[in-house]
Amino acid sequence: MINVSFFDAKEYDKASFEKYQDQHGFQFRFFETRLSEDTVSLAKGSDVVCVFVNDSVNANVINALYEYGVKMVALRSAGYNNVDIRAAFGKVHVVHVPAYSPYAVAEHAIALLLTSVRRIHKAYNRTREFNFSLSGLTGFDIHGKTVGVIGTGKIGKIFINICRGFGMNVIAYDAFPAQNSEIEYVSLDELFKRSDIISLHCPLTDETRHMIDENAIRQMKKGVVIINTSRGALIDSEALLNGIKERKIGAACLDVYEEEADIFFEDRSGHIMNDDLLSRLISMPNVIVTSHQAFLTKEALDNIAETTVNNILSYFSGSGICDNELCYRCGNIEKCKKERKEKCF
Ligand code: NAI
Repeated sequence: MINVSFFDAKEYDKASFEKYQDQHGFQFRFFETRLSEDTVSLAKGSDVVCVFVNDSVNANVINALYEYGVKMVALRSAGYNNVDIRAAFGKVHVVHVPAYSPYAVAEHAIALLLTSVRRIHKAYNRTREFNFSLSGLTGFDIHGKTVGVIGTGKIGKIFINICRGFGMNVIAYDAFPAQNSEIEYVSLDELFKRSDIISLHCPLTDETRHMIDENAIRQMKKGVVIINTSRGALIDSEALLNGIKERKIGAACLDVYEEEADIFFEDRSGHIMNDDLLSRLISMPNVIVTSHQAFLTKEALDNIAETTVNNILSYFSGSGICDNELCYRCGNIEKCKKERKEKCF
């Protein structure tokens, strides 16, 4: 029997995982609450805790899990900036789902772009009120515009292909540019200067935190559209708001927000919003916020469940070697994964 406790579990998580419940000797427990130092005691008796992007898996949580005999933290996400990988080493194995549907995220970024540029969000509300005026709905053709893509991994590459289909000129920046690709790589500064639209598809690291800050925005074209479907803290939200107020930024499409952890994924419509910055951003006519939903397609949920189950089984019923294990040891997680021939610890 493998006991798995799910944290931050939503109905759609239960629906995608439940079919595995009776297979392979799984016992699932679903908690709506997030994993944190306050809730970690719920993990007692579990072999695995299964977490999502806003669960907090810091060193204290890891030490508590280790003490309770939990063997594995299984992320239902690709990003793992909410897990202290270094603290986990030697104590708790950490696995993730490196790709579940890069199409889901890339397509959502495009949906946000088109919605924003063609004012669909405005038109939708108007026609529901039988207001058929076109005043203020003028958009612009994205054909022929230059899009700057930051991060050309799985999602970034798909986003680039879609943009090319629209006849856009693509330039890109990546700390590790793809070899032998047809992508035109430029420096970050050049990307800021040349892009009409900027889309973020790189991970959140110490290096990328607030990569879109006041200095970056100053270099951008007037009217630039910024799309963030990656991680909120890639953007300094205060600087973004200032850029919008100064009419420098033409539009912002945000699926993520740096302080989203205590806000997103829940219905807060009956509550007073304490986050003034988010309230102000949402109040802007040229800002579209979705609640970290870029991943949310049926295909992605099915893939997340399947990969997570296989990640767990590789440790408990297989060789113990899991291709999707995250281990800080060699300093380069991607390299480490490729070269792994034995258990991480
Ligand atoms: P990936 O690992 O395939 O690609 C990331 C790319 O970023 C790589 O090419 C890497 O070289 C590049 N990169 C690393 N450090 C960089 C830096 N300092 N500057 C510029 N580029 C850098 O990851 P994938 O699958 O394409 O995902 C990208 C991001 O999308 C994830 O890190 C995650 O934060 C976000 N994501 C968001 C979802 C959502 O629902 N909104 C769902 C899934 C992922």
